Amino acid sequence: MSRKIEIFDTTLRDGEQVPGCQLSTDEKVVIARKLEELGVDIIEGGFPISSPGDFLSVVEISKAVKTGVCALTRSKKEDIDVAAEALHHAKRGRIHTGIGSSDIHIKHKFNSTREKVMEQAVWAVSYAKKKGVEVEFFAEDAGRADLAFLAQLVEAVIDAGADVVNVPDTTGYCLPHLYGRRIQYLFENVKNIDKTTISVHCHNDLGMATANTIAGLMSGARQAEVTINGIGERAGNTSLEEVAMVLKTHKDLNLHTNIKSEMLYELSTLVSEMMRMPVQPNKAIVGANAFAHSSGIHQDGFLKNSENYEIINPADVGVPSSSIILTARSGRAALKHRLELLGYQPNKSELDQLYGNFLILADEKKTIVDDDLIVLVANTPILVTHK
Ligand code: KIV
Ligand code: ZN
Repeated sequence: MSRKIEIFDTTLRDGEQVPGCQLSTDEKVVIARKLEELGVDIIEGGFPISSPGDFLSVVEISKAVKTGVCALTRSKKEDIDVAAEALHHAKRGRIHTGIGSSDIHIKHKFNSTREKVMEQAVWAVSYAKKKGVEVEFFAEDAGRADLAFLAQLVEAVIDAGADVVNVPDTTGYCLPHLYGRRIQYLFENVKNIDKTTISVHCHNDLGMATANTIAGLMSGARQAEVTINGIGERAGNTSLEEVAMVLKTHKDLNLHTNIKSEMLYELSTLVSEMMRMPVQPNKAIVGANAFAHSSGIHQDGFLKNSENYEIINPADVGVPSSSIILTARSGRAALKHRLELLGYQPNKSELDQLYGNFLILADEKKTIVDDDLIVLVANTPILVTHK
């Protein structure tokens, strides 16, 4: 039977840490409502102690949605108190508390020891549990942590009551098979692991966030932490749309989410516009070129059968249709297709003549749009039938 993967969306917390992309509380509420409609299981709304604005955003998101709302804290009393207060109106609140777990973080960030970190982690989880909300523990920089220590830490916070344990690759360092093995090691070496949900949270510094997330899910993790458009610190986080579509496309993985994939393009556009952060054209799933075909060989194959070059139906992610981009690399099949969309029905010799003129224009103009085609037909002294 297919296993359900919980989607933990952190667009409004990790995603919003992108410099220059801060959102107002009202904008965050608009996005949170849309995320709920999209089908995410839990929304990380902010880091309430970090600023009055973040506190207010968690309050207002908690009022606005019925789905779970999460608030980030360090493993400090004041952070946890403030987060619990911000979550007061949440129908299902969650405190996300944690501490560094790699020796690099323990020594150079906290000037501490493994023992003290373990003690602090257990204390923070136990304290957060008293607030009557779900508690998720993050072992920051788990991707570089000593595995035996990580397993002990995870076991201790589960004993302290952690409902979810997040195993982040904070620096985007891991290779997919090694991240997968890390999660597998925890399943094999943490004796109380069945009492929690293991969560994967990957950064994209080496461009492997989605691959690592999928590897973690294949090893047994049941929650994926993601952002719309993969936005986030530095090179970003795992992108929600990529994880949702990998699982939808690869049914053989036997994993599924509750994401309504037909809304993905709408969410991508909304977040991009509100954050004033353009989506790179070649971004998987939602980029402007994700369903655009421009070389002659591909266009010919696509026009014969879209499955020759598309593994996703654009309508499944809310993109109205694929597009055939006309450039000097395009062939006659693509030109004919675009002319037909405009209502022209050239015969073979007319098409040959138009194609010669088209190539001259395409070399000059790079991309040929509909208006160019109309002028091209008008300036070619042949008879082209209009429907
Ligand atoms: O990347 C990370 O480790 C985080 C934690 C705060 C969960 O974002
Ligand atoms: Zn992160």
